[in-house]
Amino acid sequence: MNAGADRYTRVAIALHWLIALMVIGQLAGGFYMHNLPDAKAELKFELYQWHKSFGVTIMLLTLVRLAWRLTHKPPPLPAAMPQWEKIAARGAHIGFYILLIAMPFVGWLVVSSSPFADSVQTYLFGVVHWPHLPFFENVADRKGLSHDFAELHEYLAFAMIGLLGLHVAAALKHQFVNKDAVLSHMVPFLKRGAR
Ligand code: HEM
Ligand code: HEM
Repeated sequence: MNAGADRYTRVAIALHWLIALMVIGQLAGGFYMHNLPDAKAELKFELYQWHKSFGVTIMLLTLVRLAWRLTHKPPPLPAAMPQWEKIAARGAHIGFYILLIAMPFVGWLVVSSSPFADSVQTYLFGVVHWPHLPFFENVADRKGLSHDFAELHEYLAFAMIGLLGLHVAAALKHQFVNKDAVLSHMVPFLKRGAR
């Protein structure tokens, strides 16, 4: 896409919304599965397998998305937007990319370091074997380490929720207060804004 184009490419838009849907599902599903009582062990196990499958998919799709992003220019932000807002938008987008890789990676660390890592393997969508990371064989306190990674995974989830709140608020402000073209950059059927 050229610098002067007024939307992201179709591929960028498709990846944005596919990943956004999956992340929201992962956040809701993650808290739900984590808080299920042990009496629901079978359902819990199933949900953990889905969670790992979608989470790894998000990580892989984000790598594809980053490669696409680095080779295709996005539409420019409105000229009237103050410089600090442009910098904040950029910072938020970079923050998202960091979280989209760090969240699944830390999830991968949780399951790889777990004392149950040998007995509970990861099969993406029940089919493709996804190996554990190899660093933890000689760690004495795997339970403690895995617990620490799980805590980090939870903090990252809160950071993602906070950033999503800001991101959506910014998108709505552009659309309804500034009435500019920013939301239409990412929503194909939306009428282009005036500025
Ligand atoms: C967890 C869910 C979401 C994630 C992870 C996410 C992530 C991102 C990222 C990384 C970008 C920057 C694209 C780039 O230039 O590389 C972006 C752009 C954008 N997002 Fe989202 N997004 C999410 C949900 C949403 C939602 C719900 C909305 C609408 C209410 C939205 C509206 C937009 C718009 C309009 C842009 C383009 C901004 C611009 O032109 O600079 N996003 N999003
Ligand atoms: C963007 C992707 C991901 C998101 C948004 C996400 C989100 C979440 C959330 C919100 C929780 C509940 C946190 C809590 O209540 O403590 C959770 C738990 C968990 N996630 Fe993820 N997750 C992602 C990817 C992954 C991946 C790829 C794996 C493993 C390969 C994974 C493994 C786990 C595990 C094992 C737990 C339970 C941790 C515990 O027992 O405390 N997650 N995730």
